[in-house]
Amino acid sequence: MSVRIAPSILAADFANLERDILEVASADLLHVDVMDAHFVPNLSIGLPVVKRLAEVSPLPLDVHLMIEDPDRWAPRYAESGAASVTFHIEAAQNARRCAADIRSTGARAAVAIKPATPADAVMGLLGEVDMVLVMTVEPGFGGQAFMPETLPKLAALKASAQRTDTALWLQVDGGITIQTAPEAVAAGADTLVAGSSVFGPADRERAVQALRDACQP
Ligand code: DX5
Ligand code: ZN
Repeated sequence: MSVRIAPSILAADFANLERDILEVASADLLHVDVMDAHFVPNLSIGLPVVKRLAEVSPLPLDVHLMIEDPDRWAPRYAESGAASVTFHIEAAQNARRCAADIRSTGARAAVAIKPATPADAVMGLLGEVDMVLVMTVEPGFGGQAFMPETLPKLAALKASAQRTDTALWLQVDGGITIQTAPEAVAAGADTLVAGSSVFGPADRERAVQALRDACQP
């Protein structure tokens, strides 16, 4: 299976989001980082912007919620046109119900773990989510260095999903470049978020292709 590439608009030009999104139309998903300045020490965008992005994006929206109280907010993002909504296990009160609420809208549900959170924290949820996001940097900011010590969690999650015959996507987010992407894929990732390495270069289409090429066996 070829990997899915999800450019993160955190590294795009916030004054020209539609223009920048159209430049990455050859990718698979559009990664949208929502931050509340509480769960992470940074603030980005919220529901009104996500709604408009869903209307103009040629790619399905992959919304990554780095917010407190996802139990309350995640279903609202799912109803706002996101194809997939990811919440953090560290922030959820009732992860099982949160995932079910997202899925009840027709969106895919995903759960994320920070670098210090073990894979075991989400093992019991694998049948109830469509994707697990293993953060490969501390959430909050783009442009940080990839943390290879997070990668063994992917193999553990993959093995568990295979044992139980669960169709599960495994996503990595943070510091993904043509150098680190092959490492993440070798460790079990199939869905790669990339901010700086896609929106940094002037030719974004080429940057998406370069990531795909880097992951070819
Ligand atoms: C970080 C965000 C990432 C970020 C990745 O908290 O979740 O999606 O945009 O940026 P890069 O690819 O620059 O590390
Ligand atoms: Zn993200």
